[in-house]
Amino acid sequence: MSLEETVLKRIRPSEAETKRITDAAGRLKKKIVSYLKAHKHDINVMLVGSVAKGTFLSEPDLDMFLMFPDSVPEEEMVRIGLAAGEEILHGERMYAEHPYTRGDFDGLTVDLVPCYAIKDTSKLMSAVDRTPFHTEYVISRTDERLRDEIRLLKVFMKGIGTYGAEPNTRGFSGYLCESLTIYYGGFLNVVKAASEWKEGVTIALEKRGPAMLGPMVLYDPVDPKRNVASAVHIDTFATFIAACKHYLEGPDEKFFFPNEREPLTEERLRELSGERGSRLITVIFDTPDVNRDNLYSQIWKTRYALTRKLDSYDFTVLRAVHDMTKTKIIMIFELERDMLSKTFKHIGPPVWVRSSSSFLAKWKDNGYGGPFIDEGQWNVVAERRHRSVTEMLSDEVAVAGIGRDIVPETLMILGHDDTLRTADKNLLTELLDPKHPWDV
Ligand code: UTP
Ligand code: MN
Repeated sequence: MSLEETVLKRIRPSEAETKRITDAAGRLKKKIVSYLKAHKHDINVMLVGSVAKGTFLSEPDLDMFLMFPDSVPEEEMVRIGLAAGEEILHGERMYAEHPYTRGDFDGLTVDLVPCYAIKDTSKLMSAVDRTPFHTEYVISRTDERLRDEIRLLKVFMKGIGTYGAEPNTRGFSGYLCESLTIYYGGFLNVVKAASEWKEGVTIALEKRGPAMLGPMVLYDPVDPKRNVASAVHIDTFATFIAACKHYLEGPDEKFFFPNEREPLTEERLRELSGERGSRLITVIFDTPDVNRDNLYSQIWKTRYALTRKLDSYDFTVLRAVHDMTKTKIIMIFELERDMLSKTFKHIGPPVWVRSSSSFLAKWKDNGYGGPFIDEGQWNVVAERRHRSVTEMLSDEVAVAGIGRDIVPETLMILGHDDTLRTADKNLLTELLDPKHPWDV
């Protein structure tokens, strides 16, 4: 038996499980239909997502859509949608482009989402209006074999950490996996093709749409104006390519079912850090009380903003890792240095430009010696505004361009030794000894 067949045996839902899930979906749909009837709403109900498409893995969610006629105003749609969610699921209100309900039904997580029933995707009123078209497209373009191939790709993506279009993963959505498998004809064909992908790879299953930017473009088969891969970050894209190359060199179950990594001991982490001779700092903020998806993109933004600050002040970031708990956002930066010299070379204008006279006047009585010429320019040795990284970050955090809901006043910084002593060992291990999930 091939490796892929072995994996498939393990991940394909059993007949009993499939029956349990489709029965639950059927019962839920009935319940919703009779609720809508009782309230005299003329609204269709449609099961969409991976259960409808037959591409689900174990413990799937049920994606149930309420399809409103486009004559219903948006506020009305939201109101009716939420009322139904409350009554039928007693669920939690979720916020996307317009709000929907998440709840439980017969042990399954359900998303009950209102959308508009449009005739074709050029009449789109909101992003979720495409979803019923996705469902129909995938059903019409796959058979039992191809659906299993999709399952393989999804589990592979999960194993290597690239599955999901949410802002924390910045990766490949279920529909993107489905589209890729349909396009290339199977799991292994996707892997072979992707091992040769380069930045900007462009794929069209049906119509090619307008030129778009991004590490990869897959024109949505049901709406060529949209890039199905728009959420894919360049690093996720690159991770997938690297994993595909490695898989072809040495196929292994570990790509699908990675081992959990044991964190290194504090002693070993200290040793590693000593060998590198670099310096660590931990930057901590309070976790603000806002939607988690928004927060994830703000954390990335913050991490990039602080990296730019640290680099521009010559601390030079080697690498960073981050994590979020209920109460804290934690980032660990590995730096070339955490303390700078007292003075630095301040570069002035070329000697022949007019402003050089005011430069000379300003620095005439400089305590570290008068201006000198280097490469045709005036230079002077001046004192730095900040010497330590802690001082610099405390002063600059408010103007660094961090995420809008992250409060600069909650900033706490731990130095090198405190970081080694107190930081989460998993996070430090990832920072000081990076390994891909399939290499653990
Ligand atoms: P899901 O995220 O539940 O995907 O979105 P899925 O296909 O059911 O896959 P899994 O197995 O649960 O992970 C449901 C539908 O919403 C649309 C797609 O049409 C998808 O099938 N969707 C979701 C998007 O178009 N883009 C997204 O980023 C997410
Ligand atoms: Mn789903």
